[in-house]
Amino acid sequence: MKNINQYISKHKERFLNELIELLKIPSISADSNYRPQVLQTANHVSNALAEAGCENIQILQTKGNPVVYADKVIDPNLPTVLVYGHYDVQPADPIELWDTPAFEPTIKKTKIHPEGAIFARGACDDKGQMFMHIKAIEFLIATNQLPCNVKFMIEGEEEIGSPSLAPFIKEHAELFKNDVILISDTGMISNDQPSITTGLRGLSYVEIEVTGPNRDLHSGFYGGAVANPINILSQMIAKLHDENNHITIPGFYDDVYELSEEERAEMAKAPFEQKDYNKALNIEEEWGEKSYSTIERSTVRPTLDVNGIWGGYIGEGAKTVLPSKAFAKISMRLVPGQDPDKITQLFTDYFMSLAPKSVKVVVKPHHGGKAYRTPLESTGYQAAYKAYAETFTNAPIPQPSGGSIPIVSLFSDVFNSHTILMGFGLNSDAIHSPNEHYGLFNFYKGIETIPYFYQYFTQIHQQNA
Ligand code: BES
Ligand code: MN
Ligand code: MN
Repeated sequence: MKNINQYISKHKERFLNELIELLKIPSISADSNYRPQVLQTANHVSNALAEAGCENIQILQTKGNPVVYADKVIDPNLPTVLVYGHYDVQPADPIELWDTPAFEPTIKKTKIHPEGAIFARGACDDKGQMFMHIKAIEFLIATNQLPCNVKFMIEGEEEIGSPSLAPFIKEHAELFKNDVILISDTGMISNDQPSITTGLRGLSYVEIEVTGPNRDLHSGFYGGAVANPINILSQMIAKLHDENNHITIPGFYDDVYELSEEERAEMAKAPFEQKDYNKALNIEEEWGEKSYSTIERSTVRPTLDVNGIWGGYIGEGAKTVLPSKAFAKISMRLVPGQDPDKITQLFTDYFMSLAPKSVKVVVKPHHGGKAYRTPLESTGYQAAYKAYAETFTNAPIPQPSGGSIPIVSLFSDVFNSHTILMGFGLNSDAIHSPNEHYGLFNFYKGIETIPYFYQYFTQIHQQNA
């Protein structure tokens, strides 16, 4: 890649200012009040792709938020890379915990990012990372060095589980046809030790409603004689893990892919300090499934977590009440082998069996998705490896992630191609949290590394042809 560093130095300021403009629009997919801003962002992204030199720009409608398409097809005999990203963001809540407003991007230095980081909702997840791809293709087109065909699929519903995308990609399978899918929406170990995300966990997500009496009751008159749905819900949730922090749902682990001792030994080589981990989170002690390491627990083992629980009186002061209803949202992170529909069913059957007759329980399934693994011997992984080796001082390490991008497993079914996860975020970037940020080093490093992926992918692909 000729002149990538010169190009970045020359356009640094503009790249950052453009990202700032994108980050100012609150494209929160979870809240329908922000639908106009979501549409505005789709528009903004399509303009950015056009300005970068892409062609055939389209804002494609779905049942929900639109998908932005663009491409640069230079030769049908060359391989095609499909870049996937998302322009929607998580809600900024709790907003009072942000040091600077979530949609007023601010550059600040941090210990981990001494050259500065951009603080805003979506800075890392995923606007900042998605935008690196737009700037990388701008460079390749401007300097006439694009080695292959590139297509873009930038969606607006990832943060709510991509509900419209599954039917959409089946319908548009021809338009998005590709030889490999490239995504920057994950992280790496550190700025000194790059890693390539070789796996994602799947997801099964349910919402629970527990109903006791037909109305809120005076807890003095009725307390002790009528089941309290919050008490019952808490007891039921407590039964979902045993004393080894193993999940108790019958059949839950039946299809779990168990790592070989070699694979476990390989994973244990990644740099990790439990003390630093605990310190960064201000916890006395870690927690998790017996006989597994923290890295294993958070990447290759399935989990069950309550994400939210509510009911009764939560206003100021004390109100004596025996509430009629209690609610919870529960997510299960899944690993290779586990089927989200099957897991949702197993959960539902077991959870219902825990309910005493004194309450009514409803389990409502939300979105789901299967886990994904990138084969290390694939052309895409090899190309990514060489790209990082080119732009970082240290060679990259393969590492599965605990997060989920639910559509990825479906991509491999529909397109019959592998997904390569070249994420440049850090765990400390606080995605989904207050004060989300993205390092400027990471932003520019991504722009520098992506063109090499195209170069090596095309090279290896053609050698194998
Ligand atoms: N980009 C994240 C997923 C991610 C982050 C994977 C870091 C690996 C490392 C994505 O936007 C996300 O937040 N996914 C959700 C799932 C979705 C259904 C809301 C998740 O993992 O919770
Ligand atoms: Mn994301
Ligand atoms: Mn996210």
